[in-house]
Amino acid sequence: MPAVSESPQLVVVANRLPVRRTPDDDGNLRWTTSPGGLVSALTPALAESGRGCWVGWDGSTDDDEPVDDSPGLPAEVDGIKLVDIPISADELDDHYDGMSNGTLWPLYHDKIGSVEFHRHWYDGYRRINRRFAEATAEAADDGAIVWIHDYQLQLVPGMLREIRPDLTIGFFLHIPFPPRELFQQLPWRKGLSSGILGSDLIGFQTPQAIANFHGVVNHLGLTTSVDDNVLKFQGRMIRTNAYPIGIDVDRYQDAALSHPIMEASRDLRARLGNPQTVLLGVDRLDYTKGIDVRLRAFRELLADGELHPSQVTMVQVAQPSRDKVDAYVDVRNRVERLVSEINGDYGRVGFPVVHYIHQSQSFTELMALYGTADVMLVTPFADGMNLVAKEYVASRHDESGVLVLSEFAGAAHQLSDAIMVNPYDVDGLKSAIAEAVKMPAEEQRRRLKSLREVVASTDVNQWLANFRRDILQIHRAKDGG
Ligand code: G6P
Repeated sequence: MPAVSESPQLVVVANRLPVRRTPDDDGNLRWTTSPGGLVSALTPALAESGRGCWVGWDGSTDDDEPVDDSPGLPAEVDGIKLVDIPISADELDDHYDGMSNGTLWPLYHDKIGSVEFHRHWYDGYRRINRRFAEATAEAADDGAIVWIHDYQLQLVPGMLREIRPDLTIGFFLHIPFPPRELFQQLPWRKGLSSGILGSDLIGFQTPQAIANFHGVVNHLGLTTSVDDNVLKFQGRMIRTNAYPIGIDVDRYQDAALSHPIMEASRDLRARLGNPQTVLLGVDRLDYTKGIDVRLRAFRELLADGELHPSQVTMVQVAQPSRDKVDAYVDVRNRVERLVSEINGDYGRVGFPVVHYIHQSQSFTELMALYGTADVMLVTPFADGMNLVAKEYVASRHDESGVLVLSEFAGAAHQLSDAIMVNPYDVDGLKSAIAEAVKMPAEEQRRRLKSLREVVASTDVNQWLANFRRDILQIHRAKDGG
């Protein structure tokens, strides 16, 4: 039996490594840590655990054009060892574009996109999950804690447990877990759910996802629920819990208060022609995000004369994503057509009513947008959490601004002082946008104050601390500590 150290090694396993290749000031490519709260929260935890290690894919395949003088992946960043999982272009078709984003993503998001089932996709998914499990088994010290992330790697917990029963295994699903009626359509429903059940602790974003998971695995006859948060599987107890993910609140609050960002926001507003109201959407270009429905609602409000193009401007950032998957090509076409129709009908030369950006934004650009937006539109049809809603709230230090939020985002469980909408109800969405545009300053302040309190008290550090507390407790109990 391995000795129980004070701080066991922590190994994070995620589809992507926490680094990306970006040009520096002189245009030379170099690897830097990826932006985002998850990476920045996990980095100190991994460094602290000593021999902390991250297993993932670097985003490249054998099909990529070789880049001259491109630096190789570093062995470690910020004291964290990186373990790279190579994936070929063919394997990527099956594992990433196919099974992960052509089957699981739409199925887990209420079948908003069409779901395809292909046996060779699942074979590819299994092969890559096996590769992740084997590399993790190799990298983990005796008795380490392994934390596996998200829907691309649901077989890894089970495969890893077979090779390394000494490890304590946690799994966190960042996206919704679907109700039984949907999940049972999967031809590989038993294999996939048994994979997740290889974990000692399974984290979800919401209590609804836990209930759905219990419903699925009990119905399949794999488990029995001991209570709402414990499953019995092959004689083992597995804990399930909700850990709603948050953001790095200090980073957003501090940036929003900084002089350069305040100035950038003012500049941006002036460049937009100083409209009375700026509406903003910031999303990955994904059909689950409801970008098209908010554009349709906006167009109807202009047509009805409820909103006037000389007074209101909308900015929609749609970050490119998964562009080899047909459903993503379709949603891009739909959104771009709507933008061009709205601008054709209501814009004037030099003053489009919708500013559409199909590019990733830097942190500074994003902060300037949040600082300028009077109304933030977050209208997904389904979403695990939605951190954009939280980023907007954390950035509004003067307590002005209105968040319009879909009741189908995980964040709606926490952000009850937003204006809630059902994105399937275009009339309801129109009324919500009209209400947001007219909302008196006093009410904006009251709502934002309470939203800001919730976002601050459930930030990413809290999320991490809660998951770590529970997995450490299981780890100690397992080793008889
Ligand atoms: C969602 C998923 C993540 C994923 C991210 C970006 O947030 O939950 O697992 O990494 O989207 O998607 P991509 O396909 O580019 O990794």
